[in-house]
Amino acid sequence: MNISIRRATPVDADRIADLACRNFTETFGALYPPEDLAYFLAVSYTPETQRAALEDPRYAVWLLEDGDEAIGHILVGPCGLPHPEASEHDGEIKRLYILARAHNGGWGAKLMETAMDWLLRDGPRTLWVGVWSENLGAQRFYARYGFERAGEYLFPVGQTNDHEFIFRRAP
Ligand SMILES: CC(C)(COP(=O)(O)OP(=O)(O)OC[C@H]1O[C@@H](n2cnc3c(N)ncnc32)[C@H](O)[C@@H]1OP(=O)(O)O)[C@@H](O)C(=O)NCCC(=O)NCCS
Repeated sequence: MNISIRRATPVDADRIADLACRNFTETFGALYPPEDLAYFLAVSYTPETQRAALEDPRYAVWLLEDGDEAIGHILVGPCGLPHPEASEHDGEIKRLYILARAHNGGWGAKLMETAMDWLLRDGPRTLWVGVWSENLGAQRFYARYGFERAGEYLFPVGQTNDHEFIFRRAP
């Protein structure tokens, strides 16, 4: 493997849309009826939605690539989680995914540190992340960066509602 990280640009919109579908399907695809998964991917991860984030200076994406193949990514931006104390002036880790074949190699940590440095570039502020209630590995991962459980909500994937925890990192 020849793995590296780079900041994505609007030119990468198609690549990120394709990767986001592959990452989500590999990680969580088996949890949903096929029609719910197909609907979720079709509305959430279009090149247009990815390009909009890439063109918005409040958002940033880093790609993890193995040679020419995109294998992981992190998307961060203004917090949109439904928590009464969350504000759009806070930061949020919106997506963090790496294909399974590259797990446990420290690449998640590198993506996380790169994105947190960017989110905190103007000084301390509150950061948030939503994580599936049964994804204990990811919850352990976020806890290492000082995130603690602060709430919960239901995240719709088609007709299925996932029970998600909201984690917060104090400034
Ligand atoms: C979470 C994730 C990005 C971490 O990346 P990584 O490169 O494997 O992480 P690192 O090598 O830096 O750190 C290892 C830690 O990652 C977490 N982790 C490892 N495999 C995981 C998996 N399949 N699912 C969730 N978390 C995992 C664990 O906390 C692990 O530490 P542990 O030794 O206590 O088990 C990666 O495992 C992943 O993409 N998982 C699937 C997608 C996912 O769950 N994303 C989070 C959505 S909120």
